Amino acid sequence: MTNGCILQAILLLCFFTTTALAVNYELLRYQQRRSNLASQRLLWMLNRNLQYCLEDRMDFEVPEEIKQPQQFQKEETVWVMHEMLQQIFDILTRNSSSTGWNETIAENLYMELYQQMCHLETALKKIKGEKDFTWGSMTTVLNLKKYYLRIALYLEDKLYSKCAWTVVHMEILRNFSFLNRLTGYLHN
Ligand SMILES: *[C@@H]1O[C@H](CO)[C@@H](O)[C@H](O)[C@H]1NC(C)=O
Ligand SMILES: *[C@@H]1O[C@H](CO)[C@@H](O)[C@H](O)[C@H]1NC(C)=O
Ligand SMILES: *[C@@H]1O[C@H](CO)[C@@H](O)[C@H](O)[C@H]1NC(C)=O
Repeated sequence: MTNGCILQAILLLCFFTTTALAVNYELLRYQQRRSNLASQRLLWMLNRNLQYCLEDRMDFEVPEEIKQPQQFQKEETVWVMHEMLQQIFDILTRNSSSTGWNETIAENLYMELYQQMCHLETALKKIKGEKDFTWGSMTTVLNLKKYYLRIALYLEDKLYSKCAWTVVHMEILRNFSFLNRLTGYLHN
């Protein structure tokens, strides 16, 4: 696959969006909402004839902290969103040839996700530079990592079967509903 080239091109994009100004949460919310919708649409296009795969269903045990997102500060929200997108990106590109997905659509999705991460990363860099900010949600991010690790191990365990990908695909699609909700909490 040509992922390497695409990522290099996008990394440049990421570089150019960095500015010295404070985080504009309104702009970030706008960008994220647009990207969430685009990613969701691309995810739907990837797997149209969903089988049910009942036997492969799995509870990946969502971290408790994630169930109360309204308690996050907006800075933590940015961090959680970035972590989720990063992990989703890693899972989807893990053994991408085994998905059987349309490569053009998959590459558009990777690009969309990467751009989304870029915007969040720029914001995160600024947040980390603010001197009186403390990270209260370290545990949340660690538990999120474990949650996505369970998904990755599940895929490995199921030898990247079609049904396993379907289950993971559905889980990630629903994760985007949660990302949409988080996006709504970004305000200046
Ligand atoms: C990728 O998936 C295929 C199944 O489609 C599997 O045989 C192969 O071992 C996987 N590769 C890795 C590196 O896990
Ligand atoms: C992949 O999707 C694109 C865009 O929807 C379409 O033009 C193309 O024919 C598809 N390729 C395959 C192999 O289905
Ligand atoms: C991912 O999707 C599941 C299924 O709806 C949801 O319960 C879970 O909260 C989502 N996980 C995250 C981290 O958003």
